[in-house]
Parts: sequence; C-alpha cells; structure tokens
Amino acid sequence: MEKIYHLKSAGISVVIDTTANTPNVIYWGEELGEVADLLQTQLETTPHCDFDEPQLIGSWRENSRGFLGEPSLRGSRFGREWSHKFELTRTVEPAVNQVVFVSVDAAAELEVDLSLTLDEHGVLHIKQSVTNLGLTEFNLEALTSFMPLPDHVADIIDFHGRWMKERQLQRLPIRVGNWVREGREGRTGHDYTLIQLAGTAGASYEKGELWGMSLAWSGNNRHIVERTPIGRTSIGAGELLLPGEVVLQQGESHHSPEVVAVYSANGLNGVSERLHNMLRARSTHPTNVRPRPVTLNVWEAVYFDHHFEKLSALAETAAKIGVERFVLDDGWFGARRDDHAGLGDWVVAKDVWPEGLHPIIDKVRSLGLEFGLWFEGEMVNANSGLYRAHPDWILHSAERTPPTFRNQQVLDLAHPGAFDHVFGQVDAILNEYEIAYIKWDHNRVLTEASHFGQAAVRRQVQAIYRLFDALKAAHPGLEIESCASGGGRIDLGMIDHVDRFWTSDNNDALERQMIFRNTSIVIPPELLGTHIGPRKAHSSGRTHTDTFRSITALWGHAGLEWDLTEASEEELVFLKSWVDFYKQERNFLHSGKTVRVDQSDETALVHGVVSHDRSRGLFSAVQLKTSDYSRPFNIRLTDLDPYSTYLVRMIEPAGAAAVMQLKPPHWLSGVRVSGRALGSLGLRSPVLRPEQSMLIEAVRV
Ligand code: GLA
Repeated sequence: MEKIYHLKSAGISVVIDTTANTPNVIYWGEELGEVADLLQTQLETTPHCDFDEPQLIGSWRENSRGFLGEPSLRGSRFGREWSHKFELTRTVEPAVNQVVFVSVDAAAELEVDLSLTLDEHGVLHIKQSVTNLGLTEFNLEALTSFMPLPDHVADIIDFHGRWMKERQLQRLPIRVGNWVREGREGRTGHDYTLIQLAGTAGASYEKGELWGMSLAWSGNNRHIVERTPIGRTSIGAGELLLPGEVVLQQGESHHSPEVVAVYSANGLNGVSERLHNMLRARSTHPTNVRPRPVTLNVWEAVYFDHHFEKLSALAETAAKIGVERFVLDDGWFGARRDDHAGLGDWVVAKDVWPEGLHPIIDKVRSLGLEFGLWFEGEMVNANSGLYRAHPDWILHSAERTPPTFRNQQVLDLAHPGAFDHVFGQVDAILNEYEIAYIKWDHNRVLTEASHFGQAAVRRQVQAIYRLFDALKAAHPGLEIESCASGGGRIDLGMIDHVDRFWTSDNNDALERQMIFRNTSIVIPPELLGTHIGPRKAHSSGRTHTDTFRSITALWGHAGLEWDLTEASEEELVFLKSWVDFYKQERNFLHSGKTVRVDQSDETALVHGVVSHDRSRGLFSAVQLKTSDYSRPFNIRLTDLDPYSTYLVRMIEPAGAAAVMQLKPPHWLSGVRVSGRALGSLGLRSPVLRPEQSMLIEAVRV
C-alpha cells in the first residue's frame, strides 16, 4: 500500500515512500507543497537490460532489491547471511517531524531501525541501529546513512588538510563512481572533511544549492558521494569500522553515530546558517551560559620553560590589557620538561612547581583572571611512571609496540584501570585547584589500536566522551577545549562534550584566514579559538602587522598566544583597545549570521557577521596577496536588508591597515547607502597592501 511520510520544517522537506515495504527517501530539499501525487512523478521507467523493478537508492540499499551500489549495511555471520532484505515491520512517529522505520530480515535474523528527525532549523538528524535477533554472532562491517541527491547536482565540495593547514576546500565534478573520504587516524584528524557536500554547478558561498552530510563522531569516518551507472546519485556518511570492531551477540544492538544532513538553497553561507542556528539552540552551547572570555594561552610564550616569575609577569600584563582567562599549557606535570617524557603522570612537577600550582593560580586569580590547564590524558610517554607500571595499557596489537609519534603512545582508555587512572589524577588536580577550564590535547594518531586484541577505536572514542562527561559532572561549570595538534579533533560528535576547539597550531594570520573561514562553515565561530600571536609567527616565520593579526583573531573565541612581557607599551595600549572592542562586540559576533562574500579576485576576501534583525553588520575586507589589479574590486557587504539604509564607515579599533594609494575612497568616514547597493554594487576598496585587513561597519539608520 502506498504510504508517504512528509517531514517539513524551516523551509525543508523530506519525503519518504514506503510502498515497496522499505523506507525510500524520494526527496530532500526545499519545502514542497502538496506531495500526494509526488510518487507518481518519480516512478522509474524500465530500460532495456535492467531489473524489472527499479533500484531504490535511499535509505535501505540492498543487493537483494537489485541495488548495485554501496549497501547501507555490510556484515555477516562467519561469511553467511551477508546479503539482506529488510521488510518494514513498524513505523513510529514519536514526535512531529520524526519518524522511525523498524525493518526486519527474518532470514538473516536482523532488525534495523532508521530514525529521521527534521529539526526546527531544517537540519535532518539520521540515526541507525542494527540488532542481532539470531543465536550466532553477527559481524558488522559498515552501517552507512545514505540520502538521495537530485540529478542536477554537479560538484562535490569537501575539505582536506594536514597539521598546520586544516580544512582546505576542494571541489571536483561528480562523475560515475564513488568519491570517498576516509579518516583512519582514530581521531577525526586534520584531514577530516568535517562536512562533505554535493551541489549545483559552481555553488559558492552565497549562491547555489548544496546538500551536505557530517558524521557526528570523533573517530574513524567515511563520507561518500556515489553516482552509479543507472544515473542516480547519493550522499552517505558513517563510521569506518575496523575488522571485528563491532560483533553483535544475540540480542545486542549497535547504534551508529548520528549523521547530520543539511540542505541549503543559499550556498555555503546557507549551510552555516542552519548548522549554527541548530548548534546555538543547545542549552549547553557556551554562549548560552556566558560570553566567551578573552584567553591568554602561554604555550608560544614559554613553551616548556615554566618559571613562576615569568608566568606571573605574563599574568600581570595580561590582566592590564583585560584578559579574562590564563591557560598554563604543556610542561607542568611529571617529568615533562620537554616532549620526551611525562605524559601519563598528571601530578604537578615538584622540580618546577615546588609549592604546587598554588602560587601561580593564586596570582592569576588575585588578578581577577580564571585559570586553565593543559592535559593530554589519552597519551603516555614510555618515560613515565604510568608506562613503567603498566606498559600493557597502551593500544597495541599482538605484542608489538606501535611506532612512536611525538615520542608517545596512546593509552587504552577503554581499559578500566587506565580510565580510572586518568580520571582520578585529573579529578584530583581539579579538586585541589580552582580551575575553570582545561585544554585537552590529542597529539598522536592511533595505529593498530586494539583492546585485548580487538579493534578499539570505537571504544576509545566512547571512553573519551565518557571521561569528559564525568569530569564535567564532577566539576560543574568546567569548560573543556578540544585540541589535537591544533584542529585535529573538530567534529559534530565532540561538540557535545566540549566548549571550544583549538582551530589550528598555525597561528599565522594569513594562513588562519582560510582555516577559520572553512572550519566555521560547520562550527559556530564562538567555539573556535582565535589568538593574536607575536609579530613574527612561530609557525611560518612570516611577519604581520598588529592590525592584520588582531582583525584576523577577532571573529572567534578570541585570545592571545604571545609573550606579552616582551610587548612594547605601544603594543599593550593597542591590545587593550582591541580587547575592549572584542568585549563590546562579542555578543553580536557570537550570535549573528556568518557571511562570506563571493569574490572573483582570489587575492582578496570579504567576510563578516550580520545581526539576525539585519540592523547591523560588521565586515572585514582582507587583502591576502598583491591584487592582480591596480584598482581593487569593490567590497560588497551582503545579507543586509536591501530596503533599509545603512550608515557605512570604516572603523579602526585595531589600528589602521597599511595602504598604497595616493587618494583613499570617499566613503571611509561615513556614508548612507541602501542594503541593496551595498550587497549588489559594494564600495570602492582602498588599495590595501598584501596581508592587510580593515573593518567596515554598517548600521541601519
Ligand atoms: C599541541 C597543541 C599546542 C600545544 C602543544 C603542547 O601541539 O596543539 O597548542 O598545546 O601541543 O605540547
């Protein structure tokens, strides 16, 4: 019997047909009106030399129904019952716009549940599970969530990266075959795509349709766009399971991580808008608790060289310019005088801190700042008390010791002894000291990660989620930053357990432009650490002006990573005014719509934030390199109300950008222009020198 489910919310429709006794998504995109006869429009023709019944591509993709692409479920019982045919047995609608399809394969003795929830932001949440109804064990190989794409998708957009260069956008045309992005680092990794998108030809920041999927998971992952020779295209995402990682005994279920699926009719900015709205609506979202404090992280100021006097002077200077949180990084514990030793021993090093951390924490707190501390609890150095006592607690296979990576190994956190050790030591530190915040690092990738011989990436991820949740439960108000050599563990799974991500170890303001721009397509900017570093970037050796560095660091959860004791009086005055400006603007910056303007000159960028009522916009025009043109292209300010008039002017809370021109444009000190003109025509640009940026404010009059 024909039965159609139509989820409809925030301008999005998802239509699922169950006529063939299996949930088959026939539409996902802009909201549809009447769908009664939609199915009639979508019944396939039967070409020559093909199955007599059409292949269904989403959601349960089964060889048994003639589907020849990648199936949703892969797995077997010792090589048997590897092929499945699930019949829909039950449909539950627990809430508006939520439907759960329960299907059973009686022969294979398996049940699968597919839950689709379209939230009030138009974001689709896909959850799947499989239950073993048989007596023998079922070895699960993959459980992937797929959605069909319309035939007019043309391009794939996703992100690749490495340490120091995370989330670089790549675009390629969709062809017949599979484009698969896999992450096998055991953490999400610097190369994690964060979202994979398929879109209409040339979909840009502002324009075009895009369909994207992001796996809410911090371990191995897979994102796929598939076009089969029958001419149908789909997008999928799922956890990448290692051999034997999930073996279901009788009655056991496996729940795959949620897949977040988003459609935008307005390019990448539309993708961000839906995802940011969805994430910001969480009660635990940090800005729903309090504004994001200005943070000083001391890593690049002192590295492993901890001295009370130096750090105390740093805290004093930080307090003078208005910093609100002081974070002591690596080097305070065990034998951690460099990166060869100490990981695993989360006990204050007496040789460096003879009176414990009390003197520095008291100092920081007496200045009115919060204190934060660095951990890397999933890691262990061979040169540590922990490793000497429990060499078997590292993730390893057979009796081999995995290759070292930054001189370290990964602790098997699913081992109760290891978990209790880490929780116990971190908890003890948090009990002894007033610590508001921890920066939690993860610098080594996982290799041949086994827990008593069984592949254990999944357990490891579950264990870290459990650990973070337990620490937060024991220490209400504690904030956690997820760091993994910079942005190696940023994903929609971790986002529910932490409060901030360290965006990249590359603090060069030029490199940060694209890293931040692309990471913030998914992650709201207030969750991304953005710090002003010293003039000469440690990561690249490039030198940038105070203005360029501070405008670049303004947009996220802002802070500094710089030896302020070496800053000149003039620099401190400058930083103070920047900090004041950030404090004044942070509520606006962390709640408005993130806007990136399409550019045809690749040497320049324009981006900004516009308030939801469109009464105000703050934009940054950035010159990355010398323009190809002597008269630069106009700066368009988009997403303002076309029918309102705005007072537009340049503002310089972070100093003046360096220019190379005889005569500046005329609007800098303030003009009145319609939102339409600002978005469609834009403003003449000053001739900025390369690696410069300026701020432009538009206020509705
Ligand atoms: C990683 C982090 C840095 C810093 C160091 C400390 O590289 O990304 O920010 O904390 O570890 O060892």
